[in-house]
Amino acid sequence: MGYKKYIAEKLNLTSVSVEDVASFIEVPPQLDLGDYALPCFKLSKLLKKSPVIIAEDLAKTFVSDEVISSCTATGGYLNFKVNRDGFAFSVLNEVLSLSDKYGSDSIGNGKTICIDYSSINIAKPFHIGHLSTTVIGSALCKIFRFLGYKVVGINHLGDYGTQFGKLIVAFKKWSSFEAVERDRLKELTRIYVKFHDEAKLNPALDDEARHYFKLIEDGDKESNELFTLFKRITLEEVEKIYKLLNVTFDSYAGESFYNDKMDVIVDELREKGLLKTSDGASIVDLDEYGMPPCLILKSDGSSLYATRDIAAATYRKKTYDFDKCLYVVAYQQNLHFKQFFKVIELMGKDWAKDLVHVAYGMVSLEDGAMSTRAGKVVLLEDVIAKTIEKAYKVIEEKNPNLPDKDRTARAVGTGAVIFGALCNNKIKDIVFSYDRVLSFEGETCPYVQYTVARCNSVLNKCTDEFSNFTVENMTADEYAVISEIARFKEVVKNAGDKYEPSLVTRYALDLATAFNKFYINCKIAVDDKKLRAFRLAITKSVKTTLTNALTLLGIETVEQM
Ligand code: ARG
Repeated sequence: MGYKKYIAEKLNLTSVSVEDVASFIEVPPQLDLGDYALPCFKLSKLLKKSPVIIAEDLAKTFVSDEVISSCTATGGYLNFKVNRDGFAFSVLNEVLSLSDKYGSDSIGNGKTICIDYSSINIAKPFHIGHLSTTVIGSALCKIFRFLGYKVVGINHLGDYGTQFGKLIVAFKKWSSFEAVERDRLKELTRIYVKFHDEAKLNPALDDEARHYFKLIEDGDKESNELFTLFKRITLEEVEKIYKLLNVTFDSYAGESFYNDKMDVIVDELREKGLLKTSDGASIVDLDEYGMPPCLILKSDGSSLYATRDIAAATYRKKTYDFDKCLYVVAYQQNLHFKQFFKVIELMGKDWAKDLVHVAYGMVSLEDGAMSTRAGKVVLLEDVIAKTIEKAYKVIEEKNPNLPDKDRTARAVGTGAVIFGALCNNKIKDIVFSYDRVLSFEGETCPYVQYTVARCNSVLNKCTDEFSNFTVENMTADEYAVISEIARFKEVVKNAGDKYEPSLVTRYALDLATAFNKFYINCKIAVDDKKLRAFRLAITKSVKTTLTNALTLLGIETVEQM
């Protein structure tokens, strides 16, 4: 929509470009003062005047017209009121014509973003601690694609380390191919835990594990076949969850992928004089930057997590030539990312500035079961299954005649889990509650999905055409819905800029609330044909916009609920 550009052109500032001025203009959260606002502090450096003076000067010379009905200065802000009927008409028209593209943008065209997310560990349970990285990362992929970027979603698998030697030993001693095929990840976890218990009594097991790990590295056939089996079983299991959550990846290049890509990195570090030896290990000293050293090689010459990350970042830059590379990883790893980003900077790579750690908080369950405590892990699979089951029960209670209850329960149950994880600012720790995420009241997915179903039932009842709608004498409730709809594009852009999908979640709640208020206060199926067409156009646009918002989060909508 051209309003921002229109206003920027009318302001006609000689020393700032129309594009820049347009990009500074915002849709304020409260519409009492105006429909658009220009925060003049953004201009004060360029114009060398205080925001208050800028706003007053610009307001004096502004001439209103049939598009912009007024322009006033308040504090350092310049507030514009638009001709609301015209505004409403153009917003609804845009949604109706763009449909599932409404809210998308081309700002990302020609740019590439790599997003490292989920990044699970092979042969370890997929527990609730992986929920956030998986759904935040997936939402960011969808948001950036919607903004026109080329996105490369990467699952940086944890598929390297001595634990695989341990697993081979444990498998040979206490398991079988049949048991692994049958009990899958549960069997792998069982023998892994058993290994640790037994190794406490019999440390020789650890030596044996090291031996097998070395065999994997040396390309031994049998050991690699077992390793491949563990990897396949894990991926097959997590694939089921990814499918439920609408999560996909473009690459599964994990830690082991970089086995042959680290020597050159170590050489480069050495050539650039960055490597130091400390107790036999090779490190990059980061004392000067207030951080502990970054470990590159252990004293036995083997590589570390950071070494692989440096190799991975280098590989991604070379392969994808990214403009940004995001790492959606819990804040517990803050130091790791700071350290290896710094090492890349010290290596003289100017793209070090394009590496971003998108940190998020922890998830725990209401009953106190922490996500990571050994022996008491809560499997994500179980959480989703339980939520779907509970959703099914609610449907049975409230709407027993609903067709296709299974699909609806699946959409509502998984949607509730995703929405629950994306509802708050990502850095906050979350306590997951089944009852809360499934409630129809408050800030929940069922509330938004129900609103979509409500729009749908209105649209199904009134089959008349609304594409030739007109706008006259809007009510405040109608206008409130339309101005929410108009905000969507900006919300998506902000969510991308801030790496914060919760802005989209919040937005969906706000739009649903505005629509429900309108629905209660304004009858839609009125006799007046003109008014009915307008209100149906609003309803259709809300359905489209909410569906687009939920789709960005990886959540499905349902026709009926
Ligand atoms: N597998 C790691 C973990 O579970 C996360 C990997 C994150 N990505 C990365 N490039 N370091 O802790």
